[in-house]
Amino acid sequence: MEIKKAVIPAAGLGTRFLPVTKSMPKEMLPIIDKPVIHYVVEEAIASGIDDIIFVTGRSKRSIEDYFDESPELEMYLRQKHKDDLLKMVEDISSMVDIHYIRQKEPKGLGDAILTARKHISGEPFAVLLGDDLIVNKTPCTRQLIEVFNKYRCSTIAVEEVPQEKVSSYGIIKGTPLDECLYSLEEIVEKPSVKDAPSNIGAIGRYVFTPEIFDCIKMAGSGVGGEIQLTDGIRLLNDMQKVYAYKFAGKRYDTGDKLGYVKAIIDFAMRNEYFDQDLKAYLKTILGADC
Ligand code: G1P
Repeated sequence: MEIKKAVIPAAGLGTRFLPVTKSMPKEMLPIIDKPVIHYVVEEAIASGIDDIIFVTGRSKRSIEDYFDESPELEMYLRQKHKDDLLKMVEDISSMVDIHYIRQKEPKGLGDAILTARKHISGEPFAVLLGDDLIVNKTPCTRQLIEVFNKYRCSTIAVEEVPQEKVSSYGIIKGTPLDECLYSLEEIVEKPSVKDAPSNIGAIGRYVFTPEIFDCIKMAGSGVGGEIQLTDGIRLLNDMQKVYAYKFAGKRYDTGDKLGYVKAIIDFAMRNEYFDQDLKAYLKTILGADC
């Protein structure tokens, strides 16, 4: 069965990005003119997903509004013959089938995914976390789906993270099967540097068999009193094989202030309308060597 459904958890409070996230979901932070979540949805679609379940929470209405039709704006653009803008706006609301489920309290990533269980109805599915923006010709989620299609096993995307950052990630220990693929041996949520089994971290892309739901449920609450996806993955790995895959591509952690700024700079440098002007400007502030 081809993977067609994806869960995008977007219920987190965005505390790393306060104060702006006081009144704005972190998923809606713009990279130039599109919110981060737009790129994540585009990645899902380019990976073959045609049904997306957003798990949202309080004050996330603007995500629903963004992907919905906007009759007044569309009528205005039509009257003013702004056809390009009209098409852009209409395209967003017809991108893909989107469903919204609310997580009543932010009880952790595992709990958010569990909320989508009914909608997944026993199929393998993908999970994309809204903070991670990944750029590559073959989208990261597609790469995981291809591993899944070959081995029919849950697969999580990983990359090496700096030692001092291991306590921000689910960290794995794996047996290398080839250059990019590991058989998962262990996964620990946000370990201290001294307890980390490696510096290979799970980033926000996963493909799961539906058994993950029972495993999350069985795991109960973990680090920080939250229901952790990582604990569910550990139980799943006891029951069936789980793979970790070193994806190809560049990842930006847009939930981190520096990661967000880096994403904006890189996207701006590739913008066909102002990349040259921007480079000229950067030269004036950084000196001629940049
Ligand atoms: C979550 C997961 C963690 C994973 C990370 C990737 O943590 O719990 O295992 O490594 O996403 O971004 P969060 O960043 O939501 O604290």
